[in-house]
Amino acid sequence: MPSAPGHIAAQDDESMTGEGILRRQEQRESAARTYARSLPVVPVRARGMNVEGADGRRYLDCLSGAGTLALGHNHPVVLEAVRDVLDSGAPLHALDLATPVKDAFTTALFETLPPELADHGRVQFCGPAGTDAVEAALKLTRIATGRHGLLAFSGAYHGMTAGALAATGDTTVRACADDNGGRVIRLPYPYDYRCPFGVGGDRGAELSARWTANVLDDPKGGVQPPAAMLLEVVQGEGGVIPAPDFWLRRMREITAARSVPLIVDEVQTGVARTGTFWAVERSGVVPDVMVLSKAIGGSLPLAVIVYREELDVWQPGAHAGTFRGNQLAMAAGTATLRFVRENRLHERAATVGARMLSRLRGLAAHQPCVGDVRGRGLMIGVELVDTEADPDDYGALPADPRLAARVQQEALRRGLIVELGGRHASVVRLLPPLTITDEQAEAVLDRLASALDAARSAAKEAAA
Ligand SMILES: Cc1ncc(COP(=O)(O)O)c(C=O)c1O
Repeated sequence: MPSAPGHIAAQDDESMTGEGILRRQEQRESAARTYARSLPVVPVRARGMNVEGADGRRYLDCLSGAGTLALGHNHPVVLEAVRDVLDSGAPLHALDLATPVKDAFTTALFETLPPELADHGRVQFCGPAGTDAVEAALKLTRIATGRHGLLAFSGAYHGMTAGALAATGDTTVRACADDNGGRVIRLPYPYDYRCPFGVGGDRGAELSARWTANVLDDPKGGVQPPAAMLLEVVQGEGGVIPAPDFWLRRMREITAARSVPLIVDEVQTGVARTGTFWAVERSGVVPDVMVLSKAIGGSLPLAVIVYREELDVWQPGAHAGTFRGNQLAMAAGTATLRFVRENRLHERAATVGARMLSRLRGLAAHQPCVGDVRGRGLMIGVELVDTEADPDDYGALPADPRLAARVQQEALRRGLIVELGGRHASVVRLLPPLTITDEQAEAVLDRLASALDAARSAAKEAAA
């Protein structure tokens, strides 16, 4: 007899198997759960980019905790750092008090920053998620400028708390966003493949910059001077969209000339993922505020903002929080930052990423359903399109979310974990750890190519 909803059989035969755990998850966890829906994996062991499920199946993990695991799962230097803290008898919870562990983390972090921020910057430890650091950055710039508006971009993703959500572009998740009475001014982010101006390339990015300057300068444009501009150097959740360097420099010039602080959200792009330690470095731009999380905690929760000291005018307690002193995360983060720097993993990310992009572009040449392949370093996206549909006025085919979902499932069957993102969740995203070997990179691409073939055949059969 089927159990009543919510009823959990005490210890049935399969209770501790993957299936039992998944079944209980479905019965007990929120309807808002996300990855767990499309990736029914119950991880029990993990090392590097290898993950083993409770059912004994093995996977190559190209999701890496949504881009958190710069060194993959359970890297020896991270485990050692965590064990050292545990064995030392140091407190695990320390609010925002000074500790040797925190001091070492701050030193390691400042060693990675652009000199202008390292020499004249401040760090604020935030609540443990990226979204809280975004909130802190918004609050800091509002207090420092005495203004309220925010310039944010189409395709942006900054988190799920009220202020960060208001800055996020995705209208499906923004349904209940508090956008401060419409004070978020949405600007077009340069998106070559689906250019908002219909021209693409550098011209599209130039028009985006021109639009931005005009929004700020038009005395009858209806826009008050804002407290900040918030942007990602490569939009991750937006569909792996890298901004051109010249456009970033223009954003810096436009904001500097109008005394608008520039906040760069490096939550996902940071710690060598895009081929430089911080993604913004490539353009030579130095932001006023950097938002950092994910990889800086070496797989444990940690989030900070670093900012120019002139902005440091908020009062004691302006951004407090009980969990700002995670000692294990700081130790894991210090080990990760040091290992990435000492082993020049930004170069590795650039080289392997370029090779993977090139092979994917070769694949795209024979697969019309691959509309675009793009990325920077080890942040890679493959946008899938519906070849049966009519192109838009500018020649682009519509997104194919069903095919993307099929590819994700076929990849999983082949032992490859990938994420979907972008407009209509039609971009297959690869975020492998920076420690990925050449053999693993080849295996990822082999499995993805095979998954794409299988998904296309299945789609054709379904349509027949
Ligand atoms: C660019 C960016 N900013 C902010 C966030 C929010 O971070 P968190 O999920 O830790 O709140 C994310 C999460 O994916 C992100 O990619």
